[in-house]
Amino acid sequence: MQTNESKINIIEDFEKEIKNLFEKYSKSKIFIISDENIVKNCFHFSHEIVNLKENTFILNAGESNKNLDNLSSIWEFLIKRKADKKSVILNFGGGVVCDIGGFAASTFKRGIKFINIPTTLLSQTDAAIGGKTGINFNSYKNEIGIINFPEQVLIFPEFIQTLDNEELFSGYAEMIKHGFISGKEFLDEVFAFIETENLQANIGKFRNLIERSVNIKLHFIKNDIFDSGERKLLNFGHTFGHAIESLFNETNRKITHGKAVAHGMIFELFLSNQKLNYSLKDFLDYSQKIIRIYGFLSFKKEDIKNIIDLMFHDKKNSDDKILTILLKETGIATFDNEISKKDIEESFNFYMQLSK
Ligand SMILES: NC(=O)c1ccc[n+]([C@@H]2O[C@H](COP(=O)([O-])OP(=O)(O)OC[C@H]3O[C@@H](n4cnc5c(N)ncnc54)[C@H](O)[C@@H]3O)[C@@H](O)[C@H]2O)c1
Repeated sequence: MQTNESKINIIEDFEKEIKNLFEKYSKSKIFIISDENIVKNCFHFSHEIVNLKENTFILNAGESNKNLDNLSSIWEFLIKRKADKKSVILNFGGGVVCDIGGFAASTFKRGIKFINIPTTLLSQTDAAIGGKTGINFNSYKNEIGIINFPEQVLIFPEFIQTLDNEELFSGYAEMIKHGFISGKEFLDEVFAFIETENLQANIGKFRNLIERSVNIKLHFIKNDIFDSGERKLLNFGHTFGHAIESLFNETNRKITHGKAVAHGMIFELFLSNQKLNYSLKDFLDYSQKIIRIYGFLSFKKEDIKNIIDLMFHDKKNSDDKILTILLKETGIATFDNEISKKDIEESFNFYMQLSK
């Protein structure tokens, strides 16, 4: 697989690929950015990586570490270790590592090469691909950043085996989203895999689903790197999903990004049915599947009011309008659909009935 900007490989022999990298770049030029859980669970897949301790920067795990202090520490680390224009950074970790590491590389000495080695399902199918890099700033998520593509992305699906279930299902939600915007065939296969197959026992099939998911993302970004048209379709489920995620975070209720997006897709399917005549049968079938997999979320009256406020503050909206992605059919998605406060309230009324 190749975009104009980076080579993306789904690999089978991690040790060999890393050996090749260490032959291509001299050892002193390679720097690794990672987090504590990757050290525990993934480093042992390559001797070269284990042995490059002095050039390795380890973050604490978690979203809150994608911040300016850590970015600054990475720059200091690179300066201290005498990184130069010929150096290359390996971002070895989930979306947090790929985002902050990619941004550090893109800004250090006006930009040095970086390679993403994603270790979560979400980063293998989404965050490591597409060139978005950055950090959170104050309380704003992904507020500071730049679009800049990695030299290469090395995807080794076996890493997923040590991921905990919540993170695994968070990643599945992005694959489901890729199905909704690309077509029924992939969507039904993803649902069937999640509901009936065992990942450990069927890593070959899993590898194939990852590869197709990556290709779907590449398809939507290839002509729209800067998000002005087709790339927006990758935000299906995210208008409601982001607001649900923010509400849960603000009220100390735990939710993963993917689980919030999965529920966001139910709301956006409801509005797709109401406004663009998306098939009622498909809407009901797929909503039930999402609820079977991700459970049901309960919302109080004031939650819905808060969600509406949060949605009006989403940075993807312009002129105080809420714009979202809706589907005419599975695989036929449209962007910039305006939705009203009443639409949101009606979709919540419907969602509540699903639990009865
Ligand atoms: N750049 C983009 O296009 C893009 C797209 C989507 C999401 N993102 C960003 O990605 C981030 C979320 O990514 P994520 O879900 O990968 O989160 P993450 O990087 O925080 O990883 C989730 C957790 O899993 C642990 N982990 C990672 N790999 C593991 C493994 N193989 N085994 C065991 N534990 C492992 C991590 O240490 C962490 O605790 C967010 O910051 C989001 O903004 C970016």
